[in-house]
Amino acid sequence: MKFFIDTANLEQIKEAKDLGILDGVTTNPSLMAKEGIKGDEAIKNHYKAICEIVDGDISAEVLSTTYEEMIKEGDELAAIHPNIVVKIPMIKDGIKALKYFSDKGIKTNCTLIFSPGQALLAAKAGATYVSPFLGRLDDITTDGLNLIQEIRLIFDNYMYDTEILAASIRHSMHIIDCAKIGADVITSPLPPILSLLKHPLTDSGLAQFVADSQKLA
Ligand code: E4P
Repeated sequence: MKFFIDTANLEQIKEAKDLGILDGVTTNPSLMAKEGIKGDEAIKNHYKAICEIVDGDISAEVLSTTYEEMIKEGDELAAIHPNIVVKIPMIKDGIKALKYFSDKGIKTNCTLIFSPGQALLAAKAGATYVSPFLGRLDDITTDGLNLIQEIRLIFDNYMYDTEILAASIRHSMHIIDCAKIGADVITSPLPPILSLLKHPLTDSGLAQFVADSQKLA
């Protein structure tokens, strides 16, 4: 399973990269706004900076919602760096844009997926990734993991190449559950990734080993 980090914060991206387990980055307009990025030039420069840190797929989301604008914006984003993946919302014009980029050989990530039908349409249009939003479904008392299971079944039935990129991860159990189900990728903020490291028995076991190692000197 691939690990992406879901942030536009360069420090956190560096920290995850330094762990040696990072395969890519996803961003969205809310995450970019959180970092205070404003204006076309600043947005492009920020993506350049991310691409310089991580050698992997970097999702850059279009801000527009019509077909013509999305393909113009997506072409500009894709020109920033070969690792840019154009992130397109799951809307009717978005499906057309996915097909346009797929035909051009440009990678895409179809975002805001909340149903198996949406994932199926995105895969048919040639999306590289579909992003089902786990946590946001959980927020409305709907089983987000079940959605990922259903998409897995559909993609396996027809051997679609489209990868399931589990998004809106809120805690480390989401990551474990996605790995059990067979999501191809998870994209997570840094804390859930770091909390995979933790176990109290590891901490107490190490404390004991460190104490006993003094007796060996
Ligand atoms: C996906 O690519 C999105 O950036 C993200 O996972 C949304 O997560 P949120 O529900 O925590 O905003």
